[in-house]
Amino acid sequence: MGKIIVRKSKSLEGNVRVPGDKSISHRALIFSSMGEGESTIRNFLFSQDCISTMNCLRALGTKIEIENDIVKVIGNGLRGFKEPENILDAGNSGTTIRLLTGMLSGLDGVFSVISGDESLRKRPMKRVVEPLSKMGGEIWGRNEGNNPPLAIKGKRLKGTSHEIKIASAQVKSALLIAGLLADGETSITEPSLSRDHTERIFEYLGLPLIRNGLTLKTYGIEGYKVKDFNIPGDFSSAAFLIAAGLLVEDSKITINNVGLNPTRIGMLEVLREAGARIKILNTWEEGKEPVGNLQVEYSEIEAFEIGKDIIPKLIDEVPILAIIATQGKGKSVFRDVEELRVKESDRIMAIVQGINKMGGRAEVIENGFVVYGPTKLYGGEIETFYDHRIAMAFSIAGLIAEGETVIESGSISISFPNFVEIISNLGGNVISV
Ligand code: S3P
Repeated sequence: MGKIIVRKSKSLEGNVRVPGDKSISHRALIFSSMGEGESTIRNFLFSQDCISTMNCLRALGTKIEIENDIVKVIGNGLRGFKEPENILDAGNSGTTIRLLTGMLSGLDGVFSVISGDESLRKRPMKRVVEPLSKMGGEIWGRNEGNNPPLAIKGKRLKGTSHEIKIASAQVKSALLIAGLLADGETSITEPSLSRDHTERIFEYLGLPLIRNGLTLKTYGIEGYKVKDFNIPGDFSSAAFLIAAGLLVEDSKITINNVGLNPTRIGMLEVLREAGARIKILNTWEEGKEPVGNLQVEYSEIEAFEIGKDIIPKLIDEVPILAIIATQGKGKSVFRDVEELRVKESDRIMAIVQGINKMGGRAEVIENGFVVYGPTKLYGGEIETFYDHRIAMAFSIAGLIAEGETVIESGSISISFPNFVEIISNLGGNVISV
């Protein structure tokens, strides 16, 4: 497995573009497959997670071709999928398994089994299995339906009302997809607003959706026509570059074509309040999603406190925010982040362990953790638990640490395949070995 070596770096400068958004790339593939007609997806994220979704959809009969980095999909129609001959492999991807479980449970007469890697097989699936069962879905899994492999016998689902306990876009999206395949009306209420890419795609494609506060309603349909997608850059990938620009002295970088969906950019709110110099240069819209260019400059940061309401808007940015907190003045508090324990790794443990290993100071508290700053960081070999966001967060820490930081890099291609190349082009001292 590859490694990267990062050393303390002088000012980062330049203009970059991050690859396409992971959440939207998965959804563009799924919705293009479920619709009728041919569509093209531009700026698709060719990362391991999105390739997992592509392979699963191909195994279900969707024709997908790639020409000059543009993905061409020939839609199957909502109920035109064929029974897969083998186990569907979602790899490391929670979005793949949860969204596709929503779809597979509504494919009447289609039997399927979906599983993934060692990390995915430990992650909780009851959050989708339970509400889908309420709709008449038949799904079996290890540990009473909580862990993959999941075996699914597709049924004609019935529209049902759901109140979901966790703000999870994966659960919400699985149920919205199932709702399109079900008879009658499906309603979903979430405790706080999670990323709303699926809702925006519903609107873009003209699919039935009514929003009333935190409640969404959809209903079963016979089919719909596909449209082309142009995927914005991934804010969650840009987050690592934003951190690099803020932390490395004298840096000034511009990140172009970044998705700025308000349900994704909680990190910007927190950092700006903490004194970060981040400007949105201009904005436009791409398939109902706001997009813009960002300029980031080295900044002195105050400590910050985050909790409940903002967490869903920055859930994937907590590891990199924790690294920024090591340089914030004072005690930064991360509350209500228990969900991090069931991500690609136990991120609370991985963050706290890694920061302390680098000479910083972090402690676990009830429902979260705290980080004290500013502290001097030192290199070393950091354990990443094969978690892409942990690997990238500690690589950025390496840019301001004394000595050499060594990171297992295999996981990075899960979401940001050209991470090392981009950091290096900006002047970061990073090499793959
Ligand atoms: C995602 C939703 C979030 C996020 C994940 C992608 C999505 O997960 O952490 O990286 O594409 O819907 P949860 O739904 O588990 O919060």
